Amino acid sequence: MAKSSSSFSCAECGVKHSKWSGRCDACGAWNSIVEDKGISAGPPSKSLGARRGSAIVLTDLATQETPPPRAQSGIAELDRVLGGGLVPASAILVGGDPGIGKSTLLLQAAAHFANSGLKTIYVSGEEASAQVRMRAQRLGLSEAPVKLAAETNLRDILTTLEAERPQLAIIDSIQTMWADNVESAPGSVSQVRAAAHELTSFAKRRGVAVILVGHVTKEGQIAGPRVVEHMVDTVLYFEGERGHQFRILRAVKNRFGPADEIGVFEMTGGGLSEVINPSALFLSERGQPSPGSVVFAGIEGTRPVLVELQALVAPSPHSQARRTVVGWDSGRLAMILAVLEARCGIPFAGLDVYLNVAGGMKISEPAADLAVAAAILSAREDAALPAETVVFGEISLSGALRPASQTENRLKEAQKLGFTSAIAPRGGKAVGVTGIALNTMSDLTGFVGEIFGAG
Ligand code: TYD
Ligand code: MG
Repeated sequence: MAKSSSSFSCAECGVKHSKWSGRCDACGAWNSIVEDKGISAGPPSKSLGARRGSAIVLTDLATQETPPPRAQSGIAELDRVLGGGLVPASAILVGGDPGIGKSTLLLQAAAHFANSGLKTIYVSGEEASAQVRMRAQRLGLSEAPVKLAAETNLRDILTTLEAERPQLAIIDSIQTMWADNVESAPGSVSQVRAAAHELTSFAKRRGVAVILVGHVTKEGQIAGPRVVEHMVDTVLYFEGERGHQFRILRAVKNRFGPADEIGVFEMTGGGLSEVINPSALFLSERGQPSPGSVVFAGIEGTRPVLVELQALVAPSPHSQARRTVVGWDSGRLAMILAVLEARCGIPFAGLDVYLNVAGGMKISEPAADLAVAAAILSAREDAALPAETVVFGEISLSGALRPASQTENRLKEAQKLGFTSAIAPRGGKAVGVTGIALNTMSDLTGFVGEIFGAG
């Protein structure tokens, strides 16, 4: 006989608990633990092998599969992030902070897809139809044949979508949807999970592309459980700093294209406009070469992108020196500082270190290590790097420099933007790149000695 013990889960983070308590020890939320009704935690009474199922069809790997047909929006930056366009019957999650521009982007995308002949429905659970119409008017999109509804009842939405059979449905946002077969309130984990499940299975069943908008929590995750990210085919994050006009659409998961691809947009009075040359934009605010400023030649997805790193190193008035990072990983910064201390004998005790990636860009590539080290040293020594120089390369814990991928593409982009020299690890492939002086090094000590005169 199966033991039918009840189980509990946290409505904030979705973590399972064996018993109720007032506070979730996983995320720290109070009064968020609820009982999962009707789910037995014990083993099933009979093993599945006891009754025969029906045989499933097995195929060879070698069958010829045609690539999925794709619909292009005509917004090149969006199509690229989608992996070349919108795939029918795919489910896409677009996450981002409130107010970053998700609704604006998707309204523009809806209008473009509709204009190119896709039957498109936009369902807003957050704004009244009149508000969406006003926004469309402001963006000059009123003439686009998009069908609009303001609704949160999932059952009614699905019934309408079944009847209308669009090719694209946009649901803004998944947190406002309400499934009447689930007891908890809209926005709770079980509602978000149920709504995402219903909508993605509708997408597969009826061959409709579905785009779900998801808000992000303070910790930068889609509110609700991670399970939503597993359900959909593609997860895009819309990033940017409020104070900057740049917005970056980043593919963090894509079953139909490369992940880590980015699209760059600029928020203007007339909505989001595409940025065709991101490097020029990210470097546009750069002044004369100054201590602490270094240009990193990075790769985002399939594209080279140049960004400026800014560092400030100053004596600390605090008992514990500060390490503050915007746009990069703080753990990685601690590692670079430790390597500089241990391998090159450059101490940072008693010094505050600040690092900022200009333009509101977020970098995750390890190849930024050397550029970060260069920016910090340049700030510490109060010495600017040679003018018109880009830097890239990974630093290992031993202080050795590892060659970065796509060295050629980085150099070509730098050369295109008027840079005349590059500092990079030895061993990167750079055949066929001319017009840029390449200074290669094999370890961090050599780099410090050559560029900053022994530190
Ligand atoms: P919105 O798309 O509503 O954000 P989200 O759906 O992610 O919450 O974007 C709102 C912000 O965008 C708002 O602060 C105003 C700004 N905005 C512009 O600057 N220009 C525009 O043309 C539009 C429509 C919005
Ligand atoms: Mg919105």
